[in-house]
Amino acid sequence: MNPVPQAPPAFEDASRLRQQARAAGMDPNYWYAVEEVRRVAPGTVGEVVFWKRSIALFRAEDGSFHAVENRCAHRQIKLSLGDVKGCRLVCAYHGWQYDENGQCVEIPHERYGRGFPKLRLRTYPVKVRYGLVWLFPGDPELAQTHKVPNIPELEGPDRWACVPLVFTWSSHHSMIIDNVSDFSHAHLHRRYRPFDNAQLTRCETVGDNVHVAYDAQVGRGRISGRFVEHDRIDTSHMDLCFEYPYQWSNTDDAIKHWLFVLPIDERTTRVFFLFYFKSLKMPLLPVRIPRFAMEAVLKLSNRLLIAPLLDQDRFAVEAEQVGYERHWDATPVELSPAVQAFQAVTVRKWREHLERETENGHGGA
Ligand code: FES
Ligand SMILES: [Fe+2]
Repeated sequence: MNPVPQAPPAFEDASRLRQQARAAGMDPNYWYAVEEVRRVAPGTVGEVVFWKRSIALFRAEDGSFHAVENRCAHRQIKLSLGDVKGCRLVCAYHGWQYDENGQCVEIPHERYGRGFPKLRLRTYPVKVRYGLVWLFPGDPELAQTHKVPNIPELEGPDRWACVPLVFTWSSHHSMIIDNVSDFSHAHLHRRYRPFDNAQLTRCETVGDNVHVAYDAQVGRGRISGRFVEHDRIDTSHMDLCFEYPYQWSNTDDAIKHWLFVLPIDERTTRVFFLFYFKSLKMPLLPVRIPRFAMEAVLKLSNRLLIAPLLDQDRFAVEAEQVGYERHWDATPVELSPAVQAFQAVTVRKWREHLERETENGHGGA
């Protein structure tokens, strides 16, 4: 009988780059997409998790978003189990109420002669952009200077149509970054052929960003080819970037995407894909889709074109997670310099974060 395999090593104990990458968290001093705006109705609360840290995200009845640590100061039950009244979060157990500053402002039962306790929970800066709710899990003082990625195409009256695709995948975030920016897996997508014959023409780390470029035939597949205007768009080249902690691609300034990952734990990641197109053509017809109809068409293309492709990626990265947990000590074989570069940045950023925490006397993540 085979011995039961040990768990993969923790970050501090990992000796190889791949093991370190697969154990790394993400630097909290960035804005992270945590939810789609449309999924949080006014007057509701839900749980979001950033790298094992539970946060209650609530939307006041006036529509504003707020985030507090997800524990009632009374008996530590999750506030996401409670509900929202006006601008207050109400604990499910004894009904203590917290305002948007995390301050306990009401205790609706007898206090047995005791004064009102001064209790304040940690809050997190939150903002809304591109149809997503963004949260800053790090030092709140840095939330002003650090920016949500700027995507001019998705703002203003002439913005491009975009319908986010959001999933929770059972995989470490570094596996997902490896997957979306490394085009050596055309085999996985052989049915849809989103990219063929990819040749890596650039792989360069600049600061915290890894720039990658491919010469490839993009969007020539059976389904994708029907939406893309091949006579107007040069689909023979694609630029990609792991712009830590985000990832994007650009094909001829006409087909673009951003991926925002929310690291939950070593084997779970929430992914927010924003694909957007300057123009699309009607499948089977030689006409461009008018702008007012783009959103409906995008929903269709998300369903027919992008979601099935991403589901193949989900299948692969979830299988890779299982394989890694079982064979984490197998000798790593990595042919792509891009993958090595992504992992190196992930590891360095996490190490720098841990070192800062130690310097500040916090320790841990
Ligand atoms: S546990 Fe929250 S009010 Fe008592
Ligand atoms: Fe893929």
